[in-house]
Amino acid sequence: MTELWVEKYRPKRVADVVGNKESVDAFVKWMKQWELGRPPEKRAVLLYGPAGVGKTSLVLAYGKEHGYDVIEVNASDWRDEARMKAVVGESSLQATLDGSTRKIIVVDEVDGVAGREDAGGIAALSRIIDETRVPLALIANNPWDPKLAPIREKCLMLEFRRLRKAEVVKRLREIAEMEGVKVPDAVLEKLAEMSEGDLRSAINDFQAITGGRKIVDEKALEALGARNRVKEIFDALRMVFNAKSIRAARAALEGLEVDLDMIYTWILDNTPDQIPDPSDLADAFEALARADVMLARVNRRQEWRLMRYAIPVMTGGVALARRHKPSGFVKFTFPPRIRFLQSTSAERELRRSIAQKIAAKLHLSTSKALSQMLPYISFIMANDGGMGDAMARYFEFTASEVAYLRGGEVEKVEKAGARRRVSRRARKS
Ligand SMILES: Nc1ncnc2c1ncn2[C@@H]1O[C@H](COP(=O)(O)OP(=O)(O)OP(=O)(O)O)[C@@H](O)[C@H]1O
Ligand SMILES: [Mg+2]
Repeated sequence: MTELWVEKYRPKRVADVVGNKESVDAFVKWMKQWELGRPPEKRAVLLYGPAGVGKTSLVLAYGKEHGYDVIEVNASDWRDEARMKAVVGESSLQATLDGSTRKIIVVDEVDGVAGREDAGGIAALSRIIDETRVPLALIANNPWDPKLAPIREKCLMLEFRRLRKAEVVKRLREIAEMEGVKVPDAVLEKLAEMSEGDLRSAINDFQAITGGRKIVDEKALEALGARNRVKEIFDALRMVFNAKSIRAARAALEGLEVDLDMIYTWILDNTPDQIPDPSDLADAFEALARADVMLARVNRRQEWRLMRYAIPVMTGGVALARRHKPSGFVKFTFPPRIRFLQSTSAERELRRSIAQKIAAKLHLSTSKALSQMLPYISFIMANDGGMGDAMARYFEFTASEVAYLRGGEVEKVEKAGARRRVSRRARKS
């Protein structure tokens, strides 16, 4: 058994699923129709909403409680239509005649299919919905991609919203009691607030700050500082690029406790993605080049007054240059230090293999395992020796994977940061 709380405390019965009562009830009602031998008019449900709110858990809990075989397929892990048909198509047609094993098919990350060029996946899925003889539960974070329209029509749409703070606190409290951990309400409330309704990350954070201890106080929250900072930087970047005035762009950096050089690099790195128009882009680079010169002088000659000019130029100059926006939402890229981490092929390979092992155990795709779970597992393994061993056994990590998760990462992050700073300095002088 895993010692990861998200998995240990995954709802075992539908009644354990917190929040989103209407959608939970509607799902149960839909399943009952199948059980009465009258397949509902809509043969598929589409459970949609943000990460970590119980979509996958609901289906698994229902399956467990009512004796179903839950067959999980990750849409984003498919190579091609043929493979999808092989997995989903086959089983969706084998309704059991004797009723011995009942099946639910879960197709997770349906939105991942829409993003790909080949429309074949959507068409195949659409046909499977028409033909299925077993309940089909589709899951997506964002179901509104136009390419998903034909699927939406055929599904009972069930929305899952972020959980309310009180719901998150309540669940954390239950977990604390089951683990025998003493923790003040204030800490759980803070964790709930930070999670923004994502119970998975709240539970992960809680386990991370607990670090195997039985008494946790507010000081433990400090361990989460780094994670917060990354999020703050994302927010700041979004504000910089979307600002309508220099003042607003400059304000985005207020209160941000990050090295200015670092922020500069992040703005620079994101500029080509966020500014699609070539002439806008030229203007933005012009502003960045000017700010670069000023920052170099701040660094070299300690001319601090130049900061007052560098900041509005590198923020406002970029924001005002952005007269055209990309069509659709373009993600901000992860801070370069993290990207650097993934930049050698050996390391990428290692991370992929780790992510696959996590995905196989935790009902996630490999991409989600990478972004949602790997950092926590790494944190927990690095900070709690005993847990680390248990985790290594559970996931069947190899020795080099364990070494990487236990500490290689932190060390390399720092080196990567240092190297970048050095190279930027070198460029300037
Ligand atoms: N509503 C909930 N009730 C109880 N536990 C929950 C709930 N939502 C999330 N959890 C906890 O968080 C973990 C992850 O939840 P789950 O896999 O259901 O998220 P999800 O909505 O499917 O997210 P994603 O879109 O990232 O797949 C669960 O194992 C469970 O521990
Ligand atoms: Mg899920």
